[in-house]
Amino acid sequence: MSERTPTLPALTPAPATEIGSIRMATGWGIRDPQRFWALLAEASKLVDPGVFIGDNMFVWMRNMSALDDQAFMASWKANATNPSDQAILWRRHVLCTAAYHAIQLDGAFVECGTLFGTGVKTVVDYFGQANFDKEFWAYDTFDTNPVAGHQFDGQEQGLFEKVQARFSGYPQVRLVKGLLPESLNGQSPERIALLHLDLNDADFELAVLDVLFDRMVPGGMLVLDDYEWSGVYRQQKIREDAWFEARRYRVIPLPTGQGLVIKR
Ligand SMILES: C[S@@+](CC[C@H](N)C(=O)[O-])C[C@H]1O[C@@H](n2cnc3c(N)ncnc32)[C@H](O)[C@@H]1O
Repeated sequence: MSERTPTLPALTPAPATEIGSIRMATGWGIRDPQRFWALLAEASKLVDPGVFIGDNMFVWMRNMSALDDQAFMASWKANATNPSDQAILWRRHVLCTAAYHAIQLDGAFVECGTLFGTGVKTVVDYFGQANFDKEFWAYDTFDTNPVAGHQFDGQEQGLFEKVQARFSGYPQVRLVKGLLPESLNGQSPERIALLHLDLNDADFELAVLDVLFDRMVPGGMLVLDDYEWSGVYRQQKIREDAWFEARRYRVIPLPTGQGLVIKR
């Protein structure tokens, strides 16, 4: 592995005593939202600080490292444009800290399932556009969603042009419009340091893994956005477990709902 020494975001030392908390009333799979959020508001007053509420998590007495990471918070605030994006703060911090590791390796960054580009932009802005010295390949059909029942508000004709405009001034970001895995043909990197898979569909994710996993460099980080989510996402875990087991890997399940794999 050749040495890379990109400029990295400075560590903000965590204060010894003050612990932040953040509460975002956005979650999924809640049957009686009014009662649920009222009970949660009450419960969160009964626990010690270091509270995170959002993205289907209620935890307390955590260090809340994301809130102390000033470069991350600046990037997250600048890029999270809707309540769902805001609620997934912890997931974004996992992605950015994985990127901190991966930017020091050879190989490009890749995201499969880019939608509005918020994940990609949060990562690049974490380092600062001028400091981000890699290619970041970002794949999506953009204007339509090929996964039945997963169309997002704003995913419509013209989205691709909007995402292109969002990345004007970011020559490192290579947006590829088309259906995966076919859209990888002839327009994908040979060496990958960070792979973020976020397609919400087991067949598509496995088809992408078949092509890209072997291109990941040793130490490369794979973040599976939906691996530890149940409900309609459960098939991804079941099928991906079998795919990784055959290669003697085990996905590290994260309480954010993500899964993490470190390439050997
Ligand atoms: C959850 S969104 C991605 C969110 C994004 N990663 C972020 O961080 O904001 C999932 C995206 O995957 C895209 N997608 C799903 N299957 C795909 C496929 N086979 N080819 C290309 N895009 C696909 C959908 O169009 C959708 O935009």
